[in-house]
Amino acid sequence: NELRARVDETTDDYLAQFTVDDSEGFMTDDVGGQIADQDSLKAGIRGPTLLEDYIFRQKIMHFDHERVPERAVHARGAGAHGTFTSYGDWSNLTAASFLSSEGKQTPTFVRFSTVAGSRGSADTARDVHGFATRFYTDEGNLDIVGNNIPVFFIQDAIRFPDLIHSVKPSSDNEIPQAATAHDSAWDFFSSQPSTMHTLFWAMAGFGIPRSYRHMDGFGVHTFRLVTDDGTSKLIKWHWKTKQGRASLVWEEAQILAGKNADFHRSDLWDAIASGNGPEWELAVQVVDEDKVLAYGFDLLDPTKIIPEELAPLQKLGVMKLDRNPTNYFAETEQIMFQPGHIVRGVDFTDDPLLQGRIFSYLDTQLNRHGGPNFEQLPINQPRIDVHNNNRDGAGQNMIHSNKYPYSPNTLNGGNPKQATQSTGRGFFTAPGRTVTGNLVRALSSTFDDHWSQPRLFYNSLTPIEQQFLINAIRFESSNLQSAAVKQNVLTQLNKISNDIATRVAAVLGLDAPAPDDTYYHDNTTAGISITNGTLPTV
Ligand code: HEM
Repeated sequence: NELRARVDETTDDYLAQFTVDDSEGFMTDDVGGQIADQDSLKAGIRGPTLLEDYIFRQKIMHFDHERVPERAVHARGAGAHGTFTSYGDWSNLTAASFLSSEGKQTPTFVRFSTVAGSRGSADTARDVHGFATRFYTDEGNLDIVGNNIPVFFIQDAIRFPDLIHSVKPSSDNEIPQAATAHDSAWDFFSSQPSTMHTLFWAMAGFGIPRSYRHMDGFGVHTFRLVTDDGTSKLIKWHWKTKQGRASLVWEEAQILAGKNADFHRSDLWDAIASGNGPEWELAVQVVDEDKVLAYGFDLLDPTKIIPEELAPLQKLGVMKLDRNPTNYFAETEQIMFQPGHIVRGVDFTDDPLLQGRIFSYLDTQLNRHGGPNFEQLPINQPRIDVHNNNRDGAGQNMIHSNKYPYSPNTLNGGNPKQATQSTGRGFFTAPGRTVTGNLVRALSSTFDDHWSQPRLFYNSLTPIEQQFLINAIRFESSNLQSAAVKQNVLTQLNKISNDIATRVAAVLGLDAPAPDDTYYHDNTTAGISITNGTLPTV
């Protein structure tokens, strides 16, 4: 209760305690000595600057080190503070404390982003968009590091560097729109058909949203919610925008990229500054553990949605973004989201993309921050005390007084104590999770169907939306140089729909292909032999 009261107290602005106004009084150096810093110290009025000039050196040294490495992906973004309010007591679903009672409030920070562009790229480039949310709960930080598209390009994290290398700017001249960059992206997409579903969403309006406010968000992977008694369910996270979903049309996106590269940033900032902060409802699709293979696809496969007819959305609460950052670098740039930031009541699944992400974010953040203490940065600190035996390292901000930083110990009364299921505190792994099997470097054949869900997506669009999607594929593939890539693109499109392939063929300079119904089925089976939820032998 004491902890909860402290979180409540700090809901408004925990970061205020770290905010400094250094614009008053006499200027000082970094350790407090009063200085003037507009002229360097010279040997003679027209002579060289002296090595002795520590004021010069300190100022220039600090400037020289102002930048940290930008994010390897999702470098371009904008963030804001908000508050999440639970609609009810969801303890029947999860032990997560931020969902334990109606009206319970939890501070949040959200960062929206594009994926491929650098920190200075234009907001309206066609791309998947990041939608990463941190909940500063009274039992630690929970991050839902999601996107505005519910599926992902690949199924195994080991392929992520290949995906990103293929979509980043051309390696010789770093031009994102260079013909070689188009060829490499489409080469990867058409040789790796698991990309088709996400590609279709990105080519439709989801790749060029009207604003961050008009996007939904998705956790993408299947996760678990676990109750206090250890019962678990499989879930998908959803953020539903209360502003309504909307996208730009391509011509608008292109013009805006030239006229106002900060279009999405400004829109979010202005909405919040004018008191019209955007809102999203948090919802889950809930599925029983034994249904992991029941729908004709594998719920561990992140290229699949669960159609809402099979698992309707259950709304858990609402988040409002209502405060802009005070300092972009300290907050938006230094926040370090991780899929591995979970709280009691939430658990992972064996989705091989998720498993790899749990390592990747921690690893890249060591690189961005230069040491292991980035969780001590104000924007990353949980709103509750941290008790553990982690010590020292670059940028250590804490002055730990405990002289016995090891466990088990007797000299400190066994403290800090282990939080385990039996103490009713630690609950990071659902008790029912089991793993069996031979070591194997392969993906399950239950991940093999890459075509029926893009077809489902295409069929769910209105004719006008379908035309936008066709136009986008035509535009984006019209620069292709390689005959092999063009042919592969058409082959993959034809597996999804002969209609689409026929409408794109002319732009590629190819004949419309004959229909190929090998990959057609009724979307209730994956076209692979899953019976009664039994995993085929790998
Ligand atoms: C960053 C989403 C897959 C590696 C991000 C961000 C988002 C995101 C939203 C930006 C976070 C921020 O605003 O700070 C996703 C989703 C994925 C996915 C939804 C698939 C479902 C992957 C995979 C990897 C990966 C498979 C690597 C194996 C990274 C890295 C960053 C990042 C290295 C930069 C993190 C940082 O510097 O703080 N991702 N991602 N992502 N992602 Fe992913």
